[in-house]
Amino acid sequence: MSFKPLVTILREVVCKQYFERMPEPETIMTGEKVQAFDAEGNPDGTMAAPHLYIISQVSRTISGCKRVLDLGCGSGQLLCQVAEINPEIHFTGVDLSEEMLKRAKIRAESMNLSNVEFIKQDFTEVQGLQDKRIDGIMCVYALHHLNDLQSLKKFFKAVNSLVNQDTSIFIFDFCRLHSEKSIDFFVEYRGGERPLSREDFRNSLKAAFSLNEFKMLLDEELQRKVDFFSTRVMKFCLMIKTKEKFISEEKLDKIDQKLSLLSQRNQKIYNNAFCKQICKIG
Ligand SMILES: C[S@@+](CC[C@H](N)C(=O)[O-])C[C@H]1O[C@@H](n2cnc3c(N)ncnc32)[C@H](O)[C@@H]1O
Repeated sequence: MSFKPLVTILREVVCKQYFERMPEPETIMTGEKVQAFDAEGNPDGTMAAPHLYIISQVSRTISGCKRVLDLGCGSGQLLCQVAEINPEIHFTGVDLSEEMLKRAKIRAESMNLSNVEFIKQDFTEVQGLQDKRIDGIMCVYALHHLNDLQSLKKFFKAVNSLVNQDTSIFIFDFCRLHSEKSIDFFVEYRGGERPLSREDFRNSLKAAFSLNEFKMLLDEELQRKVDFFSTRVMKFCLMIKTKEKFISEEKLDKIDQKLSLLSQRNQKIYNNAFCKQICKIG
């Protein structure tokens, strides 16, 4: 029996200082990293369980919206599934990586989705979207790519220029851990098989902003009220969102069907690590 999980929990609970943030080596994802990241979204990949949890949470958050922006949509693994479950909503995926956008467009076409479009833009400087009557904004696993707090501040300013008191907002990302040893633990247990994915996961955890940094900047820059959620004991991910709304049985069934397609391991991770562990925090 390994004591590593227990030791990591103790370390994260007791330690007061945080790991010093190290920005990602590349802000925009290109080359082999794109392929590796994309593959992790498959039913046996490391992103499949978190993605399904996010799909379920996003669908509840943006229910009733007409036009939703996905900032940092990547290869569309997540966005296309959200669009499939919510056919009455029009989605615009925004990313700066041509390679990611190319994959996203191919994926949307192969899924016959007519409710998604993609544009190449820097999401810290969103332009030309103010007139689009956006009533929902989502941003998943993208903010840790930003270089520094100034860029994160710029991002929230840009988001604020698009929202009003009714806009639905959903943000999900990694959260800064206290120690590099805890990062090693997560990479060992959840980093997957592919060396490139493990490296990407390690870099992402090292580049994560802290809960307090998110809170401070949201307080300063965003006029819309949001709630904060995180994993119960070790806060390695963070979900920031507006209130959930009703979603139909039909959509819940579609989410259940997607769950049944995941590998056994990922079904367990979905049920135990995400559905049971993520809760509202102060
Ligand atoms: C880890 S991927 C996440 C993709 C997707 N949201 C998901 O969860 O599958 C992060 C994406 O953010 C994009 N990105 C990073 N900084 C960006 C910026 N300033 N503007 C637009 N896209 C950006 C990267 O190119 C990459 O495709």
